[in-house]
Amino acid sequence: MNPHAPKPDDAVGATALAANPYGYYDPSTREYVITRPDTPAPWINYLGQGRYGGIISNTAGGFSFDRDPRNRRVSRYRYNSLPPDQPGRYVYLRRKDTGEYWGATWQPVRVPLDSYECRHGAGYTKITTERKGTWAEILYFVPPTPPDDPCPAELWVLRLANNSQSTQVIQVFSYVELSFTDASSDMHNLDWSQHILSSRYDEGRHAIVAGTRFSPTTQFFGSDRPPLGYDCDREAFVGPYRGLEDPAVVVAGSPSGSEAPRGNNIGSLYHELCLEPGEEARIVYVLGITDTPGDITAVTERYRDPAEVGLALEALRRDWEAYFEAFSVQTPDADTTAMLNCWSPRQCRTALHWSRFVSGYETGLGRGIGTRDTAQDALGVVNAAPGEVASRMEQLWGVQFADGHTWHQFFPLTGEGGPGLAAERPTWPRWFCDDHLWLVIATCAYLKETGDYGYMERRVAYAQEEAVGSRRAGQGSEPGHAGTDDTIWGHMMAALGFTLANRGPHGLPRSGFSDWDDTLNVDHGSGLAESVWCAMQFCRAVLDVAELADYLGRPEEAARFRGMHDEMADTVNACAWDGSWYARCFDDDGRLVGVSSEARHRINLIPQSWCVIGEVAPLERAKLAMASAHDLLGTPYGPSLMWPPYDGGDPRVNGTSTFPPGAKENGGIFCHAAAWSVVAAAQLGDGDRAYEYYRQLLPLSRPDVERSVVEPYVYCQNICGPAHPQYGLGRNAWLTGAAAWMYVAVTQWILGIRPTHGGLRIAPAIPSAWPGFSARRLFRGTWYDITVRRQGPGSGVSLTVDGRPVPGDVVALPAPGTSQVVVLAALGD
Ligand code: GLC
Repeated sequence: MNPHAPKPDDAVGATALAANPYGYYDPSTREYVITRPDTPAPWINYLGQGRYGGIISNTAGGFSFDRDPRNRRVSRYRYNSLPPDQPGRYVYLRRKDTGEYWGATWQPVRVPLDSYECRHGAGYTKITTERKGTWAEILYFVPPTPPDDPCPAELWVLRLANNSQSTQVIQVFSYVELSFTDASSDMHNLDWSQHILSSRYDEGRHAIVAGTRFSPTTQFFGSDRPPLGYDCDREAFVGPYRGLEDPAVVVAGSPSGSEAPRGNNIGSLYHELCLEPGEEARIVYVLGITDTPGDITAVTERYRDPAEVGLALEALRRDWEAYFEAFSVQTPDADTTAMLNCWSPRQCRTALHWSRFVSGYETGLGRGIGTRDTAQDALGVVNAAPGEVASRMEQLWGVQFADGHTWHQFFPLTGEGGPGLAAERPTWPRWFCDDHLWLVIATCAYLKETGDYGYMERRVAYAQEEAVGSRRAGQGSEPGHAGTDDTIWGHMMAALGFTLANRGPHGLPRSGFSDWDDTLNVDHGSGLAESVWCAMQFCRAVLDVAELADYLGRPEEAARFRGMHDEMADTVNACAWDGSWYARCFDDDGRLVGVSSEARHRINLIPQSWCVIGEVAPLERAKLAMASAHDLLGTPYGPSLMWPPYDGGDPRVNGTSTFPPGAKENGGIFCHAAAWSVVAAAQLGDGDRAYEYYRQLLPLSRPDVERSVVEPYVYCQNICGPAHPQYGLGRNAWLTGAAAWMYVAVTQWILGIRPTHGGLRIAPAIPSAWPGFSARRLFRGTWYDITVRRQGPGSGVSLTVDGRPVPGDVVALPAPGTSQVVVLAALGD
């Protein structure tokens, strides 16, 4: 049996909010408070609302961009650099009398401070420090502006106070490294980019402006009070053979007035503040980008008015409050409550904005927005920001080809699509068998949430070229309108049609370059490799469409879709059941992977949960599959993805085996996949098991942040598994499907509050130790106040709606205009 299996009481929920040596969550402000600067890794936050923005660490490392970190970059960041987490949005402070200098956010100087605190909030970060009586606070945020704002910008609001008994003259040097807007050229084509970008101080605008001769695009960095000096040239500011910790200009206490006719461009403004004891002063810096440089003055002038800064911050707060309010809960577990009322939905929306494109780990140069990733991210946002989901989904449908498959990823600004990793293997399939099916699932979720059935009539042009050429003659347009009907409904049919037309010898979907697991590359060109998991995903997608057809009063179509489900489920059950669990896939030679006869990769987690989610397995099989996964894959950090891992390259599966044992898809704990186990356990009515998995992965209650390293307020993509020497180490925080799926898992399956076409279902699978919970949720314009009380063992529900008992577990849609519905659910036998 599995020696890593958690002991039974590992899952018992704490009732107090967890803290760790580096910080704690403050529910009164919804901020994660970091109490020392030297966190195990930079703990980052996101600025902006999906357009202009960027990342910022707890010591102000990070960078900014407008809509696209590769194609419209504002500032620079050096991944893999030493010292780590540089450069950033820095302010150096220097005492004029003594010449001592330090970083207002600790970096990049890193001299000891008397106090330090970073508060990561929703869309803003505030860092407060004090040294020898000089108190400094910098609040970083992006004022919300309309999507077509021609001159988006971010603010750094610096407040300084003299907490000492004597007058202090403080010299203030700001620092941001400006990037050539094409960040890829900025990194790779220095012979060009280093001669192109130039910057100078523009008196009239009180700002440094940077740009090229051939384009109007201009970056600007200004301040509300005119500076006494500036620097635009990094080499002049830093000096030869020096670093950001001791730049020559700061050491000397005097800006050099450099312009940058080429080379490395920076924005550094110099101010001097004379503060009497107890006195406070502030400087507002404005960093932004525009194609209409004539607009810059208006923006820098607007934020000279403190009232405008206050209004902008208030607008940001209101936007997030409205988003958070759409679903709030009180549960007996303080960590669960805290996550659900803030960081979980916050992470979901950030993932929808930036997919897997830009983070402390993903450089913003490489891959663009992932199609499958973003469709899944939509699931976690659709209840609170349905408009954002509708437009993002339209973009995603726009990268679908007429034969039904999609680009794997694309750059949001240019629309340029690509096949991702598949590009590296010209003789292997260039498509992924799951991408297009996620769009079906996400679109159905959007329709259930909003009732916006007209959405299906919107027309979205298909992407051009890239026919896969592998569909069999005569099956091209099954099940309906593939390729000719460019409504969203037509796109959905094209997606199902692609899967049906690209089946392998057993009748399961061909795997293509890979399915959800990017590293499971079993099709090496023969077309024989098939994905058992994708068959289960297809089953879910087609059932969702069947439910939709039912609701729309099209029973014949619904029956046809159910027939597709049943046929696929029968096929899976006939060829992929291994006795105690489901196999993972067929390889290129038609051999099963993920079965007990194998030495490596004997069992894989995801078919065991998706046999439930896709309603594929008969009940006893489903329970056995989930129990096998629990026994063989369970760890205290959540279930691993597979076991035993490969040890060295195995050409059968390719990518997975490139990782060392226990890393990522090779036997790591893949948090995204682990979330599906929460869903499946709850779907089987096992609230204790669902909660056990949920708690194991809950960021706020990670037991040992020195071991897990990553930010304790967001999910990470993976955690090193038992076979890895760094077992328990988390990697790749923030942009992961774990965010949306954990949110769906706990809100819709453990708490059991699920939208359906006909109303809101209340079907909790809460842990047996919970006496109940309460929640307030916005659904189709009506507020639902929901109280669930356990009355006995079991998971049956009796509903009372506005004081009247109703049959079943669905609260029917109220009369139009109803503002509030009060639901009481008694849980028990
Ligand atoms: C990464 C990818 C995602 C993929 C997963 C599993 O998270 O972004 O698309 O499904 O890995 O391989």
